[in-house]
Amino acid sequence: MGSSCGAKLTILLSLLLVSWIPYRSSALDNDASLFVDGSFGRKIPDTLFGIFFEEINHAGAGGLWAELVNNRGFEAGGPNTPSNIDPWIILGNETYLIVSTDRSSCFERNKIALKMDVLCDDGSTTNACPDGGVGISNPGFWGMNIEQGKTYKVVLFVRSAGPINVSVSLTGSDAKTLAVSNIIASDSSKWAKMEVLLEAKATDHNSSLQLTTTRKGAIWFDQVSVMPLDTYKGHGFRKDLFSMVQDMKPAFIRFPGGCFVEGSWLRSAVRWKETIGPWQERPGHFGDVWNYWTDDGMGHLEFLQLAEDLGALPVWVFNNGISHNDEVSTPNILPFVQEILDGLEFAKGDAKSTKWGSIRASLGHPEPFDLRYVAIGNEDCWKPNYLGNYLKFYAAINQSYPDVKMISNCDATSKQLDHPAHLFDYHVYDNANALFSQSHKFDQVSRSGPKVFASEYAVTGGDAGKGSLLAALGEAAFVIGVEKNSDVVEMASYAPLFVNTNDRTWTPDSIVFDSSRMYGTPSYWMQHFFRESNGATLLNSTLQTSSSNPIVASAISWKSSEDNKNYLRIKVVNFGSSTVALKISISGLKSIESLGTKTVLTSNNVWDENSFDEPEKVVPFKTPLDNVGENMNVVLTPHSLTAFDLSI
Ligand code: AHR
Repeated sequence: MGSSCGAKLTILLSLLLVSWIPYRSSALDNDASLFVDGSFGRKIPDTLFGIFFEEINHAGAGGLWAELVNNRGFEAGGPNTPSNIDPWIILGNETYLIVSTDRSSCFERNKIALKMDVLCDDGSTTNACPDGGVGISNPGFWGMNIEQGKTYKVVLFVRSAGPINVSVSLTGSDAKTLAVSNIIASDSSKWAKMEVLLEAKATDHNSSLQLTTTRKGAIWFDQVSVMPLDTYKGHGFRKDLFSMVQDMKPAFIRFPGGCFVEGSWLRSAVRWKETIGPWQERPGHFGDVWNYWTDDGMGHLEFLQLAEDLGALPVWVFNNGISHNDEVSTPNILPFVQEILDGLEFAKGDAKSTKWGSIRASLGHPEPFDLRYVAIGNEDCWKPNYLGNYLKFYAAINQSYPDVKMISNCDATSKQLDHPAHLFDYHVYDNANALFSQSHKFDQVSRSGPKVFASEYAVTGGDAGKGSLLAALGEAAFVIGVEKNSDVVEMASYAPLFVNTNDRTWTPDSIVFDSSRMYGTPSYWMQHFFRESNGATLLNSTLQTSSSNPIVASAISWKSSEDNKNYLRIKVVNFGSSTVALKISISGLKSIESLGTKTVLTSNNVWDENSFDEPEKVVPFKTPLDNVGENMNVVLTPHSLTAFDLSI
């Protein structure tokens, strides 16, 4: 764009064009007409579309985090309840083996260890052990995915009264041994760290780890881990799930919750300092909102690393002294504030001159992370101590980290905030019609106040099932509204990202997986239509329709990093049940190449979902587009999201 005078002239011409539009005959010949003005645009924030990763549905523990052992330290009861060794099971019966727990671990923050008193002995003639010995077995998270040719690192801490041989094996669901090694525990007074590498000779997606012996005596186990060597860059992320997320090209990642951050009670809220350092020393915790134990293998450092690996900005949601059922009063909040300042220093501090920065460096990441956003709590605006606590966090962070933007929990879409904030959180879970209508949600939001972070949106309930086409279309309309209002909406993310199909606490989700398989729901694929929007240019577009079908549309232009070419993408949601003839008229572009593509997300039935059996029932379908030019007649399939991509 030239001088400011030139810009004004363009605006004037655009206004004239818009007011002239109703008299164009083309608007009458078609069900709908879309006018795109390529000469005038506004930059979309680089941060607009990202992801929200919450430890829900076993998204991390038993999901993206590749650790295969579930409850590796036998701590799953949590600090205030009796030990719970679930899902470990005992191999052999009480005739040969007594299993108990005690607090003899060498790790101060997770004292519980498992003790096996073995009563049988293959060395004796009278009391031989059953075939395969006796011991314990861990099924992982509904089965370990053990794959032929891959190597698994088993680490365990062992202590025994006298020498005892232990067989460490990965065993298939048919009891076949996939990989095995033997260790000998020999010192009663000291814990020993044992490590074995096991290479699998066959594949079984439902395997388990077995620790067995045929020698009489007492043996203790603690902190037992099985990690595949083959994780993303060796950083511990399951490669297949990582690449599904990477394909979304997220500009940011909000973590680690959600309600997970809050806890039902403060004693179960996330405390970042408990999630860093050597994995075997982390206490782990029971997330009492989503009701499962996590060893916190995926902790503060791993989340920051994940953001870096995805090329996404981290957005750290921290507990502000408020859970679902209890609250820290504002006069007592300062220790919480200090904990968060320390967490920021851990992420951003200099590796040499700051305490927490040097701890980060000692854990293998000397370079500071690019942490620019924090959210002060989650969905807590209405709580009695929110404002008081918020202001304490805001003041302290603003003083120490003036470059960090802070996100309030208070919805300011229809009112002014009574406190300072750079952004405010907006969450919406509703039926498909409601999400469709929310394509105008941000039209009236004040342009002078804080920006919107639509950090959780999704169609839920009957319209969504486990992830329907209908849900994706309602969401697509909402997201088009986000894109068109991206002068005031700075960020948006669908929620939740992941579900392990064996623990569906929250439905629907973007990505469904089990130990070895995964697929995207239609909502996942809907988000792909917006992958190029971050940092693109939003073009003026005007829709005229005589169709009874609800339709929304937007247009962007962007430069592809792959081929360095410029593209125009027009996205249209046809939310109705009949076909729409759409005339697209494009003005203000120097040239349009004759080749284009049309990508459609639709299906025979709006209730259609993907599944492990039919993972690609509802996925985008791309075809060449031949009648490309300034004036194009196209057809919108009933119940569809369509992207027209033109090279310009
Ligand atoms: O996304 C699931 C949950 O919905 C989040 O934990 C919470 O923030 C919201 O209520």
